[in-house]
Amino acid sequence: MSLYNKITVIGAGNMGSAIAGGLLKYSHSEVCVANRSIGRLKSFKVTFSEAPNLTVTTDIAASVKDSSLVVLAVKPWAIKEVLNQVRPNLRDDSVVVSVAAGIGPAELQKLIDRDSIGVIYMIPNTALQVGKGMTFAAAAGVDKEKLDEIHALFAPMTRLKFVDESKMEAGMALCSCGIAYVYRFIAAAAQAGVELGFSYDEAVEYFTATVSGATAVIESSDLTLQQLVNAVTTPGGITIRGVNQLERQGFTAAVIDSILTPLKK
Ligand SMILES: NC(=O)c1ccc[n+]([C@@H]2O[C@H](COP(=O)([O-])OP(=O)(O)OC[C@H]3O[C@@H](n4cnc5c(N)ncnc54)[C@H](OP(=O)(O)O)[C@@H]3O)[C@@H](O)[C@H]2O)c1
Repeated sequence: MSLYNKITVIGAGNMGSAIAGGLLKYSHSEVCVANRSIGRLKSFKVTFSEAPNLTVTTDIAASVKDSSLVVLAVKPWAIKEVLNQVRPNLRDDSVVVSVAAGIGPAELQKLIDRDSIGVIYMIPNTALQVGKGMTFAAAAGVDKEKLDEIHALFAPMTRLKFVDESKMEAGMALCSCGIAYVYRFIAAAAQAGVELGFSYDEAVEYFTATVSGATAVIESSDLTLQQLVNAVTTPGGITIRGVNQLERQGFTAAVIDSILTPLKK
């Protein structure tokens, strides 16, 4: 039986809905989704109308009663206000997970102000809703048994890596922001596909399958990335012309800059 029999997710926006949806899909826990306004709760309830273990509420303060795991999925500037609301009702042995960007475990512990409550700062991305993607997390005051359960709970939704807090920003820049660049890469390829005579939707479908094929090969092959490129670029052939044109247009530099720029002060 899971340590986390009742889980409360506060915030029914993009990230809160993705996490709550994953929990409903892959766990047997009771899931309570709390949001300050009713609109998003209504649509979430419709999407998961078949889930017997779902409750929704606008009573944020009461939503955490009896929850052994509380997930905060509100904007960073709302974290303090939400914690002020729920603090009196938090279980002493609970774990609080926050996905709010930039609020690390030490700050969360300070805001919660209860030594017995463990905290986890998590940076996921929305691919979690389809059981994919990369999530980084940094924990404070959470024992091994509780951490193992968090791993088990999130494993069907995302690849989850616990790191030192000092690595969280790097993880966010590479993977959480990075998913947007992958979308843009596919959109750019689709624009070219249209010029070649495909419809935009066809080009997106075909190039997405290509990207998905490439990631599957990378994950299953022992070859290095350069060896994989070599395998598809025949000397004197046409693919190497395109690869070299990418570099002449500054592809590698643009990708490096786009990943480093969000962290520049
Ligand atoms: N989206 C991503 O890919 C991503 C990735 C990593 C981390 N995150 C983090 O996830 C968090 C949520 O982002 P999101 O993209 O899901 O945002 P979102 O779609 O705008 O959802 C935010 C949710 O927070 C609720 N909320 C806002 N202020 C509140 C308050 N004062 N009290 C109670 N609830 C409040 C909103 O309620 P209403 O419906 O009433 O407005 C809404 O349901 C952020 O902290 C962000 O840093 C997001």
